[in-house]
Amino acid sequence: MGIRFLLNGEPQDVSVSPTVTLLDWLRETRHLTGTKEGCNEGDCGACTVMVTDPDGTARALNACILFLPQLDGRAVRTVEGIAGPDCTLHPVQRAMVNHHGSQCGFCTPGFIVSMAVAHRNGRRDHDDQLAGNLCRCTGYAPIVRAAEAAADAAVPAWMRADAEALARGAVGEPAAGPRDRPPYIPTSADALAAWYAANPEATLIAGATDVGLWVTKGLRDLAPVAFLNQCSDLKGIVADSETIRVGAMTSVAEFGAFIADRHPSLAELIRRYGSVQVRNAATIGGNIANGSPIGDSPPALIALGATLHLRKGDARRSLPLEEFFLDYGKQDRAPGEFVEAVSFPVQPDTLACYKLSKRFDQDISAVCGCFNVSVEDGVVTAARIAFGGMAGVPKRAGAVEAALVGLPWSEAGVMKAQAALADDFQPLSDMRASAAYRMRAAEGMLMRYFHEQAGSATDVLAVRA
Ligand SMILES: Cc1cc2nc3c(=O)[nH]c(=O)nc-3n(C[C@H](O)[C@H](O)[C@H](O)COP(=O)(O)OP(=O)(O)OC[C@H]3O[C@@H](n4cnc5c(N)ncnc54)[C@H](O)[C@@H]3O)c2cc1C
Ligand code: FES
Ligand code: FES
Repeated sequence: MGIRFLLNGEPQDVSVSPTVTLLDWLRETRHLTGTKEGCNEGDCGACTVMVTDPDGTARALNACILFLPQLDGRAVRTVEGIAGPDCTLHPVQRAMVNHHGSQCGFCTPGFIVSMAVAHRNGRRDHDDQLAGNLCRCTGYAPIVRAAEAAADAAVPAWMRADAEALARGAVGEPAAGPRDRPPYIPTSADALAAWYAANPEATLIAGATDVGLWVTKGLRDLAPVAFLNQCSDLKGIVADSETIRVGAMTSVAEFGAFIADRHPSLAELIRRYGSVQVRNAATIGGNIANGSPIGDSPPALIALGATLHLRKGDARRSLPLEEFFLDYGKQDRAPGEFVEAVSFPVQPDTLACYKLSKRFDQDISAVCGCFNVSVEDGVVTAARIAFGGMAGVPKRAGAVEAALVGLPWSEAGVMKAQAALADDFQPLSDMRASAAYRMRAAEGMLMRYFHEQAGSATDVLAVRA
């Protein structure tokens, strides 16, 4: 049984090694060379394709770190499928011509696909939508002008064709009835739990924004693997009056959209997480399970008091998220055990998240500080503070919290607590930042939080002369 999907409207049924990337397959097997290879690691957007899910959602994704089994039951549209069937240019293509949005043209197919998906989805935040596409020669102003010029044009009918075809069952499944997927594509958490317990040496693949690089850059052979993206019961967010539970396979993009009303600072952090293409693929479960010391969601979730939910076979257990991260590269996860969800309490919004990176967009944090301090009658009653980039794991700042609680919420109190940062952290120097810079940055973030809570504008995007 192969992987079935639509490619520019045509049904495909392919049997390949599970870790063949869509980019390689398109270029080498289908000779669709409009999809370019720039970085081969998700950074440049030259390989952007449009992927439509069975529910009709269209997303821009990087084909270089997308494995073919992730496409099973979906529709892919490459740059060759963005013009109409009679070669009518898409409005964004016409606008790129009119606004001189292309010089050498290497980046242009990726831009066109990102712009066409954003246009289909009615997005007008062009800078954010295009932050994952790099251009070395034209400059971004003509490209953004083209996106603005096309924004009011009607969405061409062919850009909705994939969603309509999937709804009609064009990939085969609804008409033919349920079919067996290859064994490495479980369709429920139960099926995954049973399979993984029996194959604990397997590599789980969620959004592949980390794992993809193990193949394209590390040239690793990952077999056996299991793809989690058809486990629909691992996706989505459930909220009641007390708790918010986020399924492991919820994408970072979905989580960002959900959290914007409740914790806008976290949504702003997520706006700077990778790019649209990366956020559309990356999952919250993957961002936790990889144990990265510089992952952006763990410090924020720890500051919100999150609980991690793990499962092995039929056995489930939960632990405070900060306890999951044992040491650099070491997590509290047994062989055959996987992340099912993360949950945190509904609470008043006192959360602020600060991401410090060399570039504003599409960059990994040098330091990410997340602060959640409760103050009553001018005195600190509770504090949850966590940092990424300050240790070998995302880490809670227990000494700083203890120093703050009971103190008056004042500049002097915050300065005392700043001194406790040295008890919590001995950061490393690396290519992103020196240890001394990280420590100064963490101190500054704590003071910034104090001033921000007092109503001062501290965001460089908000400060006005
Ligand atoms: C260009 C680019 C930019 C990036 N920018 C950022 C950024 O700004 N901030 C940031 O935090 N990260 C960033 N990342 C890193 C990456 O996006 C995240 O770590 C991401 O959340 C990983 O999620 P995923 O679903 O893609 O995981 P995958 O790559 O599929 O998996 C990652 C790891 O987690 C394991 N895993 C996945 N799901 C589960 C599960 N449910 N249970 C157990 N194990 C599991 C996998 O086996 C693997 O070991 C970036 C990556 C790229 C390529
Ligand atoms: S080739 Fe650069 S993002 Fe895929
Ligand atoms: S036009 Fe040359 S890289 Fe963009």
